[in-house]
Amino acid sequence: MAILILLFFLVVNPLFHLHFSLARDSNPNGVLVLGLSQSSASLPIPKDHKTSLNRPTEVLDMVEQLREVRDGYLIPLNIGTPPQAIQVYMDTGSDLTWVPCGNLSFECMDCDDYRNSYKLAIFSPSQSSSLYRDSCASPFCVDIHSSENSLDPCTVAGCSLSTLLKSACSRPCPSFAYTYGAGGVVTGTLTRDTLRVHGNSSGVTREIPKFSFGCVGSTYREPIGIAGFGRGALSLPSQLGFLQKGFSHCFLAFKYANNPNISSPLVLGNYALSSSKDSMQFTPMLKSPMFPNYYYIGLQAITVGNSSTRTEVPSSLSEFDSLGNGGMLIDSGTTYTHLPEPFYSQLLSLLQGVISYPRANEVETRTGFDLCYKVPSPNNTFTDDHFPPITFHFLNNVTLVLPQENHFYAMSAPANSTVVKCLLFQSMDEGEYGPAGVFGSFQQQNLQVVYDLEKERIGFQPMDCASAAASQGLHKK
Ligand SMILES: *[C@@H]1O[C@H](CO)[C@@H](O)[C@H](O)[C@H]1NC(C)=O
Ligand SMILES: *[C@@H]1O[C@H](CO)[C@@H](O)[C@H](O)[C@H]1NC(C)=O
Ligand SMILES: *[C@@H]1O[C@H](CO)[C@@H](O)[C@H](O)[C@H]1NC(C)=O
Ligand SMILES: *[C@@H]1O[C@H](CO)[C@@H](O)[C@H](O)[C@H]1NC(C)=O
Ligand SMILES: *[C@@H]1O[C@H](CO)[C@@H](O)[C@H](O)[C@H]1NC(C)=O
Ligand SMILES: *[C@@H]1O[C@H](CO)[C@@H](O)[C@H](O)[C@H]1NC(C)=O
Ligand SMILES: *[C@@H]1O[C@H](CO)[C@@H](O)[C@H](O)[C@H]1NC(C)=O
Repeated sequence: MAILILLFFLVVNPLFHLHFSLARDSNPNGVLVLGLSQSSASLPIPKDHKTSLNRPTEVLDMVEQLREVRDGYLIPLNIGTPPQAIQVYMDTGSDLTWVPCGNLSFECMDCDDYRNSYKLAIFSPSQSSSLYRDSCASPFCVDIHSSENSLDPCTVAGCSLSTLLKSACSRPCPSFAYTYGAGGVVTGTLTRDTLRVHGNSSGVTREIPKFSFGCVGSTYREPIGIAGFGRGALSLPSQLGFLQKGFSHCFLAFKYANNPNISSPLVLGNYALSSSKDSMQFTPMLKSPMFPNYYYIGLQAITVGNSSTRTEVPSSLSEFDSLGNGGMLIDSGTTYTHLPEPFYSQLLSLLQGVISYPRANEVETRTGFDLCYKVPSPNNTFTDDHFPPITFHFLNNVTLVLPQENHFYAMSAPANSTVVKCLLFQSMDEGEYGPAGVFGSFQQQNLQVVYDLEKERIGFQPMDCASAAASQGLHKK
């Protein structure tokens, strides 16, 4: 079945090869220090979501520790009775939460890059006494199958949505296929079990019975599970009652990737909103009529260097067309920020105009990044460089000077008194479909990012996330 799905995927569905090109693809040598773009946005599907409102209005805050890996941030999930700990990507660009599932049978195709990098924890359904398969009448079952996704086993088998909608149905929810923007696919069954989450003071845990998630037996290019933080009914914040409140995170700098000694908090609930400082700048959350489950913000201009000159970006980065395409997705599941052509090339030219270091063309060829420079590093030690600051201007006069290490980043340790640094932005693949740009997790390092779902806005505040973590006792010495 998985192979069949794969063929469908490769042959029938060019749409799925969307937006997010992988730096890794042009790097056959595997020398790349930084990771590949984690896939993100699930297949954009028109949906009309009604959030389930039958939740207590007062939910306790939740705080989980995010760990950084080379291409994203992991959140630990404790599922089942007794609880099994599974680390999954925290992804604001999709809704479904899923874990690799099965005794010995979890299969990940085209995952060689990861196999040695991660110790995979696999959820064992037979070890949990509280687990059961979601039923066909569950709103989540309808949700996960309510797509035009021709890979969906339900669709392949010819069972229609209207069959599912007959709520008398008491059969188990048919297995699903869920597709991600960069080409990943996961297939599995919708399952319910107890999820244990942490409160905002140490030692306090909360049990969420009947949490609905995917028990995934086979995937294509998705080796680790994902916690969906989108706005759809299936998402983790939605099921836990945080969709009317919000959440916040402070992503550690890349140098802490795979460091077991430090993590940073992901906060859900009132505290995520109330702890924001006066200097927090808020830009409105835009709602795409076509993709209402994604978080969009509007980018208006970019400034390179210290000048007061703003370079306007295409209006597609702050507006939707009549079909709902356009806007800038803010997505923790995409590694690098993606900008549309021809603006992306214009930005490269602007940068080339003010940077005087020699280019490192061979590194560009090897890594797939478009702008790399050789920076002198006497005695092979890192010294201050002179890259211009890059400032993003979002709607509502939000001026975000990106922390320096969020754009030009060292590809390897200094050698021969030189270090090569590359601009970690990428161009959006051609195509008129979906978002016009993506604000990725690499550019969200050392920023406090607040998803204020009450007031429909997203806040930014530069912050040293390692210090913030240390002050909260999350830095093991
Ligand atoms: C899973 O593994 C356990 C112990 O190895 C075994 O007892 C059980 O039958 C297995 N379950 C399935 C569904 O394979
Ligand atoms: C936990 O959350 C409650 C309610 O939002 C708040 O009053 C309290 O200060 C928080 N405690 C900590 C340690 O953050
Ligand atoms: C983490 O802490 C341990 C114990 O202090 C130390 O040996 C190790 O080098 C640290 N790891 C990193 C990556 O800093
Ligand atoms: C490089 O190392 C040499 C010898 O250790 C030292 O004399 C020199 O000052 C160093 N240069 C810089 C720029 O640190
Ligand atoms: C920009 O301003 C900062 C401090 O205001 C200064 O350190 C830096 O050299 C300036 N950069 C350029 C390219 O003018
Ligand atoms: C935008 O913000 C800047 C400071 O960041 C301020 O000087 C300017 O007056 C603001 N403009 C508007 C239209 O609010
Ligand atoms: C350092 O320079 C030597 C001689 O020019 C060269 O052979 C070597 O490949 C260089 N090493 C790196 C890491 O660039």
